[in-house]
Amino acid sequence: MHTQHQYDVLIIGSGAAGLTLALRLPARARIAVISKGPLREGNTWYAQGGISAVLDHKDSIESHIADTMDAGAGLCDPEAVRFTVEQGPEAVQWLIDLGVPFTRRDEAEHAKEFHLTREGGHQHRRVIHAADNTGQAVETSLVEAVRQRDNIDLLERHMAVDLITADRIGRKENHCLGAYVLDRGKHQVEVFRAKFTVLASGGASKVYLYTSNPDTSTGDGIAMAWRAGCRVANLEFNQFHPTCLYHPRAKSFLITEAVRGEGGKLLLPDGKPFMQRFDPRGELAPRDIVARAIDHEMKRHGYDHVLLDISHKPEAFIKKHFPTVHQRCLELGFDMAREPLPVVPAAHYTCGGVRTDLRGHSDLENLYVIGETACTGLHGANRMASNSLLECLVFATAAAADIGARLDTTSLPPELPEWDESQVTDSDEEVVVTHNWGELRRFMWDYVGIVRTDKRLQRARRRVELLQQEIEDYYGNFRVTNDLLELRNLVQVAELIIRSAQTRRESRGLHYTLDYPQTDTSQPPRDTILVPEKRRRGEPRRSTTGIMVERRNIVEQLG
Ligand code: FUM
Repeated sequence: MHTQHQYDVLIIGSGAAGLTLALRLPARARIAVISKGPLREGNTWYAQGGISAVLDHKDSIESHIADTMDAGAGLCDPEAVRFTVEQGPEAVQWLIDLGVPFTRRDEAEHAKEFHLTREGGHQHRRVIHAADNTGQAVETSLVEAVRQRDNIDLLERHMAVDLITADRIGRKENHCLGAYVLDRGKHQVEVFRAKFTVLASGGASKVYLYTSNPDTSTGDGIAMAWRAGCRVANLEFNQFHPTCLYHPRAKSFLITEAVRGEGGKLLLPDGKPFMQRFDPRGELAPRDIVARAIDHEMKRHGYDHVLLDISHKPEAFIKKHFPTVHQRCLELGFDMAREPLPVVPAAHYTCGGVRTDLRGHSDLENLYVIGETACTGLHGANRMASNSLLECLVFATAAAADIGARLDTTSLPPELPEWDESQVTDSDEEVVVTHNWGELRRFMWDYVGIVRTDKRLQRARRRVELLQQEIEDYYGNFRVTNDLLELRNLVQVAELIIRSAQTRRESRGLHYTLDYPQTDTSQPPRDTILVPEKRRRGEPRRSTTGIMVERRNIVEQLG
């Protein structure tokens, strides 16, 4: 029998959302932040671009709202958008006060002001950034601040296996009581009991063969919430970043959209520009349009890549604004100050996720979901660049306020059942895990990528169901490892993505299908909501703290 860990708040994930929440909670709260790898190995660390917020007197809240809604292709929740945009300046000021070294303007007379860059879909310069490694600067400041707080335990190499819900102890309430967590050092699954559990574990872009994301983006939070009975929304909207470096050793290294914001041009390999043929905003059209245009040109001509050229800018400007990209490209043999870079689209962001309200409430009492794991309604059918770090900060702050207000009136869960390993042995065939990883990511790329069809989705559905069965068998028979848990989560999210895509019979935002190439204007835009079996059985059950506003939904039909 292991000791059961006991906290007021258990935060699963250590990126911008998780750490902001930890810091914004009252100092009397006992908090655990768990991270399945090293603290910094998440998507926040790799974010290059920045954080969008209205910080310039020529810009306005209304303009930021309008751009976000426009990029979201009719599916943004206006309340969520307004809430996020209005909280933006305060959220950024909090980071400035924390000491994040945002880049200042070049001109001597404005040297005290922050430099704001532009990215696709934004009508104004409103992206505050730390050169081209904003995520690293933000994460470093957050980690430093968290380390100074003795009410917060930071537990690296701890991977959540599953949430623990009240039905595990025979109770009927719709509550989350904590999580089973694999301590990767001890190879042991332990019980973490908590008054409140928060999923802040990022998105699922690793479900695709080519992705700008680190290996950790395996949809863990989405899969765990689904298994525990939470609804998920809009998972068909997978964002492909238009410009990742095309190089066998680059692992889809991101070339920040700010390169286009500062004048970078997209060219075909013969040097011809092409973006104006697709959208009058050219290189600064929203991402779905740019990624699809590149995909179209690559497929039409049989090219392996297109080019991104900013070599007309002075070398000193490039080195100041894009030091990380410049250096990495040099290491791989490209000098962006002198030549165009070969680029391709790659999976970048999961717009859908666990359905939440403006305070981060999920369908389970005492379970909050924030950051890329959540679907708040901000992004709709396509996230506008640099709105995601903003969403992490704003919703972490809102959830922290909500938890703070309930901290003293919520009791700790009782002793919970131990993790049972009596029926399993050590795996004798790790190849099943590695093989299925590869197979899953390849067919998701080929059949559920930038351009979809009914047939491709059907093929993907058949394959994913087979893999799910195989992986569940494996999971039932062998001791869990980090790789197995990630694969189990990834295959679950892949299935949800495919089902969501099959449910939407139109093209909208990031979901483009040759079978329904038009946007359906005959009825109001609708979210795709998938309802887990567990919740269907228990209906009608509602969180008593989270009064979810029901938008008009496409709810997948049973059977
Ligand atoms: O292009 C970028 O730097 C990415 C920004 C974002 O995804 O928000």
